[in-house]
Amino acid sequence: MKIGIFDSGIGGLTVLHQALITLPKEDYIYYADTDNVPYGTKTREEIIRYVDHAVDFLVGKGVKAVVIACNTATSTASDYVRNKYTLPILGMEPAVKPAVARSNGKRVMVIATPVTVREEKLRNLIRQVDDDHRVDLLALPGLVKFAEAGEFEGEEVNQYLRREFSSYDLQNYSALILGCTHFNYFKDSYRKIFPKEVAFIDGSVGTVNYLKRILVGKNQLENNHGTVEYYMSGRPVYQEAELAKLARLHQRLDKMLKYK
Ligand code: DGL
Repeated sequence: MKIGIFDSGIGGLTVLHQALITLPKEDYIYYADTDNVPYGTKTREEIIRYVDHAVDFLVGKGVKAVVIACNTATSTASDYVRNKYTLPILGMEPAVKPAVARSNGKRVMVIATPVTVREEKLRNLIRQVDDDHRVDLLALPGLVKFAEAGEFEGEEVNQYLRREFSSYDLQNYSALILGCTHFNYFKDSYRKIFPKEVAFIDGSVGTVNYLKRILVGKNQLENNHGTVEYYMSGRPVYQEAELAKLARLHQRLDKMLKYK
């Protein structure tokens, strides 16, 4: 049985990329909801509808687990789909707790989409661990647009980031938490802006390790070939040009692994 991985667009490839490293003998179905990207500026009701549809599609394909590789969809719709389906449905959660624990008195910045920043799920999480009010939350919807347009570096991206971070003294930070899976594509640009001591923390490794523990626990690990079937809002991706584009995105994610 395959594993379903789902995102509004190309962000979830960061989780697929990590899954192919950690669980290379599994087969995958990747669903990008390209008709409805971005989710981060939509209403809660819209997002729940999209996520329900995508999970229903993946369940219909007979997957053994679904990873909602999207923080926005996790914060709004994971409870809804978990109540509806019996298979394991994993989500993304910004690693605020360990980041605060290791912050040594410095500040922690969480960047995410406007919906994730607004949702109670993240605010509750921060409230539980941030006794000294050292966590800042910043919405960066522009990065989702840049990513979907394939614009990962260059002057416009740099200017956008410098402008958005301009009211923070970045010397005071110990960690930047990437609370949106689309944000992993820009690690080289953050590195140019943040002091080198600032750690970049993304949730892919944690989520994939958790997926592995679940599959081990259920005795459901496979010995297959790491194949991936891609769908865009339910339509199979088979054209050479589209597959080549996806391969280039995986190459970019390979490059990003060295920025920590
Ligand atoms: N990749 C998504 C996330 O992790 C959302 C991007 C969007 O569709 O706005 O939050």
